Amino acid sequence: MNYFNRRNFLKSSALFAGATLITPNLISCQNPNSKLNIAVIGVGGRGRANYNPVLETENIVAMCDVDDIRAKDGYEKIQSLFPDVKKFTDFRVMFDKMHKEIDAVIISTPDHTHFAPAMIAMELGKHVYMEKPLAHNVWECRTLKKAAKYYNIVSQMGNQGHTTNGVRQIKEWYEAGVLGEVKEVHAWIGTFDFRPGHYWSLPESFPPPKHENPHHLNWDLWLGPAKKTRL
Ligand SMILES: NC(=O)c1ccc[n+]([C@@H]2O[C@H](COP(=O)([O-])OP(=O)(O)OC[C@H]3O[C@@H](n4cnc5c(N)ncnc54)[C@H](O)[C@@H]3O)[C@@H](O)[C@H]2O)c1
Repeated sequence: MNYFNRRNFLKSSALFAGATLITPNLISCQNPNSKLNIAVIGVGGRGRANYNPVLETENIVAMCDVDDIRAKDGYEKIQSLFPDVKKFTDFRVMFDKMHKEIDAVIISTPDHTHFAPAMIAMELGKHVYMEKPLAHNVWECRTLKKAAKYYNIVSQMGNQGHTTNGVRQIKEWYEAGVLGEVKEVHAWIGTFDFRPGHYWSLPESFPPPKHENPHHLNWDLWLGPAKKTRL
């Protein structure tokens, strides 16, 4: 399903309702026939599910990943459709060099590196789609919420389960008073397999054996704001 398409942007953006925004990149989005210029931050893994829906409708102008192997398929696919796309390892460098050409970003990096690129993007007036969980701690989440409002950008978190019609309908019923006073809420989860081997594996020994940093991974950039710790 396309959660990050032009129609959703146009529908939800205050810009198109006549609000005042001054950043040139956003003004360039005002023409509903023009395509958004998107930067993909985190190309491998979940990145694929997030950039795939926009490949036919928008332009991808930049892609950034810290792991050449994890991102390989994505790099190749995006490059085949957008031969002029620029490739980066460090999103700070990407924003420095290309911020004038970018309208919106899709952030699919691991949780601890959601906040930094999202804040930079918002400060530059870019729209942001980012993966759940929104950020690493409550302060970061609250700051992003304030920033989205302050910089008047359109943002969305990849919380697909909460953006479906069923959830919206219940919200509307609740707000219209149809349900009366809600005293109890039941929530449940499907059949995800959280045993070792599916999402994660137990190390053979503890502490786990040390490995050399793989040549294809920029470990410092992967760590980002996280502390370097040694077992
Ligand atoms: N909405 C959903 O249903 C859903 C499903 C799976 C994952 N997620 C979320 O998506 C995010 C990514 O998960 P994943 O399993 O794809 O992780 P991953 O470790 O595969 O990372 C995704 C990509 O980001 C790259 N990356 C890592 N650090 C980076 C950085 N600093 N700059 C640029 N690229 C970087 C990785 O190399 C990889 O290619 C997580 O926040 C996860 O919680 C959401």
